[in-house]
Parts: sequence; C-alpha cells; structure tokens
Amino acid sequence: MERKWWKESVVYQIYPRSFMDSNGDGIGDLRGILSKLDYLKELGVDVIWLSPVYQSPNDDNGYDISDYQAIMDEFGTMQDWERLLEEVHRREMKLIMDLVINHSSDEHPWFMESRRSKDNPYRDFYIWRQGRNGAEPNNWESCFSGSAWHFDEATGEYYLHLFSKKQPDFNWENPDLRRALYDMMTWWLDKGIDGFRLDVINFISKEPGLPDAPNREGKKYVFGGQYFINGPRIHEFLQEMHKEVFSKYDIMTVGEMPGVTTEEAILYTGEDRHELNMVFQFEHMDLDSGPGGKWDVKPWTLKDLKTVMTRWQKALENRGWNSLYLNNHDQPRMVSRFGDDTAYREESAKMLATFLHMMQGTPFIYQGEEIGMTNVRFSSIEDYRDIETLNMVREKVMENVEDMGKVMRAIHMKGRDNARTPVQWDDTKHAGFTTGTRWISVNPNYKEVNVKKALLNPVFYYYKKLIQLRKQHEIIVYGSYDLILENHEQIYAYTRTLGNEKFVVICNFFNSTPCFELPAYLKSYKEIELVIANYEVDSANEIESMVLKPFEARVYRLVF
Ligand code: NOJ
Repeated sequence: MERKWWKESVVYQIYPRSFMDSNGDGIGDLRGILSKLDYLKELGVDVIWLSPVYQSPNDDNGYDISDYQAIMDEFGTMQDWERLLEEVHRREMKLIMDLVINHSSDEHPWFMESRRSKDNPYRDFYIWRQGRNGAEPNNWESCFSGSAWHFDEATGEYYLHLFSKKQPDFNWENPDLRRALYDMMTWWLDKGIDGFRLDVINFISKEPGLPDAPNREGKKYVFGGQYFINGPRIHEFLQEMHKEVFSKYDIMTVGEMPGVTTEEAILYTGEDRHELNMVFQFEHMDLDSGPGGKWDVKPWTLKDLKTVMTRWQKALENRGWNSLYLNNHDQPRMVSRFGDDTAYREESAKMLATFLHMMQGTPFIYQGEEIGMTNVRFSSIEDYRDIETLNMVREKVMENVEDMGKVMRAIHMKGRDNARTPVQWDDTKHAGFTTGTRWISVNPNYKEVNVKKALLNPVFYYYKKLIQLRKQHEIIVYGSYDLILENHEQIYAYTRTLGNEKFVVICNFFNSTPCFELPAYLKSYKEIELVIANYEVDSANEIESMVLKPFEARVYRLVF
C-alpha cells in the first residue's frame, strides 16, 4: 500500500460560524479561528478542514456561494484568510477548503446572468427546463423538502435545485462551466492550500433526460437519487478534474458522497483511478433512519453498525482508502447518538473515539467532539436556524401533521443544529464564544461541558493521546482490519494486523458489564501491552477474559 501523508493525518473540521467569534457580532470568524490555532496544535491534529468561508447570502450557512474567490464579510477579509493559512502552516498543520460545486448561490453572477434570458451565454451553466402541463419538469424532491424545481418568471422556465431554491445546480455537461470551476480551484491551490473537501460531489452528473423517479406511493415529489447519485459521467468528470487540477499538487481530496456504495468507493478512491483520495460514505449515518428517511427515526443496532463498518473496512483494504467520522456539521453529536450523553458522557465519548481512531482510514474530528459536546434540545422551533429543519417543519405544518411532538423529537435527535451550537470554550456567558448576541443559542450544558473543563478533565487529553498513538504505531494507519466476536451483542471488537503485531480493540457500546473472551487463535502471543484505555486498568494479563465496565474501551498490542 502506498504511504501518503493524508493517510497518516488526523483532520479537524471547523464550522466557522459556530467556532469562535472575535469581534462580538455573534458569528464565528477567521480571527476567532486564528486565536484558537494553538489549541488545535495542542490537540495534535494535522489538517484543518474549513467549512465554506466564501461570500454567501447564507441561505444554507455558506453552502450557497455567490463568490468563490472572496471571503464572507461576516468572517473577515482575504487578508485574514491569508494570515490564517500562514499561521496554520507555521504550526506545521495543513488547511483544506470546502468546495461546493454541485451548485452555487442564486446570487452568484453566473446565475444572475443565466436567469436573464434563454440565450444568455451563462444560460447553460445551470439546468433549465420547460414545465410539463403547467407543473414541474419532473417529480424530483429537493433534499430540503418540496420540489427540486423552481419556476422563474423572467424566462418562464424552471431551474433545478437539489437543495434550497437559492442553490441552483450547475450543469456539468457544459465544458465551459467545468473549465471555469477548474480555474477557480487552481486559483485556491496556487494560494497554497492543501486540498479540498468536495460537497455532494457524487451528485454532479445527472441522467440525461432527467426522468421521473418511480413513485410507488403516489406522492407529489420523490427523491430522484437514482438519477443523479453516482450518475453516468461522474467518473469521467472526476478524472478530468484530477488531470486538470489535482494532479499538479500534493494535496488531499475527500468527496462527500451520500448514497455511495463500497463498489463505487473503490472506483472513486482506487490509487490507479486518479479521482479522489477518499470519500465520506453515509451508511453508518443512515442506521437510525426508517423507510421514511432521516426524520423517520428508528433505533440503530450494534449488529448493523458492525456489518456496515466491517464492510467498508474490508472492501477498501488495499483497493482504496476510508475516511472515518461519526459526526460533522450535518449530523447529530456522536455521544448523543451512539453513546450516553448523561451519566457516561465522558466514558462513551472516549469509547467512540477509540472505536473510530483505531480503524483503517483518515479520522475526522468535528469541533467540540474532543470535549464530548452533546446534542441540544431546544424546546421552541424559534431557536432553530437550519434551513433543512425549518423547511421540513413548514412542510409538516402544511400537511397538517398532528403530532408536532414527534416532529420535535426527531429534530432533537437528528437536526443539524445539534452540531451547530457554538463551541463551548468556558463557563462564562455564551460559553466564551462571543461577547455579542450569538446567532444561535448555546447548549445549556455549557457550564458542565466546555474546553476549559476538558483541559483539566480527560476527554481532550484522551483524543490527544489517540492522535499521538497514530504517529507512534504504523499499524494504526496501515494494519489490516478484522472483526472479532462478530455476534456479541454489546461488544464491538476488532483486530488490526501488521507483520507479527496485532492491536486488539475492545469497545463496550452499552451501559452494561459484558464479558470479553479473547478468541483462542489470538492467545499465542509472546508479548502484551495495554496501549490505551478509558478506565484505570490493573494488569495487561486480564485480556483473555474480562468483565468490561459501562462504555469501556481498551486497546492491547500483541506481538506474535
Ligand atoms: C452537504 C453539506 O455538508 C451540507 O451542509 C449542505 O447543506 C449540502 N451539502 C448542500 O450544499
């Protein structure tokens, strides 16, 4: 397997709006990030991924870009950004930028031109269609509820928007559009950035003809994913992007890919394919979604988690590369979702970190995860800001859904604002995030959960240790993965193997005290060492049979 810096790195994701505010306007900004670089260096992360900081009307908090080569006023200036890059590099870290090129903002000059007339030179940069019998061109549903089409008075046609109506989809069939985007990407790379995270990049190629999606339930709009997820020209486009842009730099690329399968991921990340380094897959994020999708919440099971994670680990072994994440700015907080955010908050946060960081792949830490931040449960919809959540509620209200309690419960479990409440730096007003009026409320548990406390208590230091271990033990990066105790209902255990060495990773996912038995074939080790554990452990020899504490995690190193 080829050795690469991005395989050996740990990435930290910053959602700038909620990270740190430096000027008291209640919105996180670049200087705020600058003031916390030493904190990130202390944690030991190698790469920082910045969620979008470009000029944007903020319909979707920066994922709707109106100028790809300018910084959002609320976040600062291009000089601030350049200073940030310089200071990141001075601390020997790297910076990757979020690249949102499935769509732009409707306030981008290209779209403003495009909507002007049918023969405008930019018309074909976006996807315009005539209506069908006075209705939308097809039945596709937007990822943010409602139709994926918006009627535009000026020219009497509809444009496609897979997200909000202020996020028109680009027409990737147009070579001039592709050239313009590659030039923009090159401009950023020439400024010295270290790579890109590519937003919903497997949505860019749409099935020609944009057919109706099968509509078995007779709904007004249905998810048309089969016609744009991993679409017909996707590999061609990515290979072209690689040739025209990525191949000229030593960078890291990670593609966000809802609906990606392992078979597709091998094609996207295979070393001989020249597309991307890794993808964000979603199968483990979908384990608690019922047939009705994200908001149709059902309990996840450990069995399913084992199946999904093991499938990804084995499928990409020697054939591609995994990204590893349990939360981000679109997902609930991992400790609330997969752990216990009350009595065992710290223990389960550390257990989940162990579980993830010991797998093969590049781990991503989402801001606040390193101190065990939790979901928030605002009681009023007024406190929510996320367009996905608000559109969903609007739709439920329009449909006269009676059980609004159920809707609120789903928001508490799945809403994206769970991840977007400000980072809790200390126990002062607004958790030290801002001196002004914060754009979204702080999680009321900030007096208990905050960085200042975490620097005295162990969650932060546990992450720091996990990151250091990756630098000390090649096996964590390059070792192969094998599931053990496959049918155990409470313990997720696996081994990593490199040469005559094995790591045994043991994670109790429950508030219970299950017994771990080392499989017979692993008992012939010559040396044993405890690498990390989230409780005090007396002796290494316990490994053959032991009773685990609630949410206990241990990693042993065995030499054969
Ligand atoms: C995925 C991003 O992570 C999410 O925050 C955004 O809303 C959509 N793509 C649309 O850009």
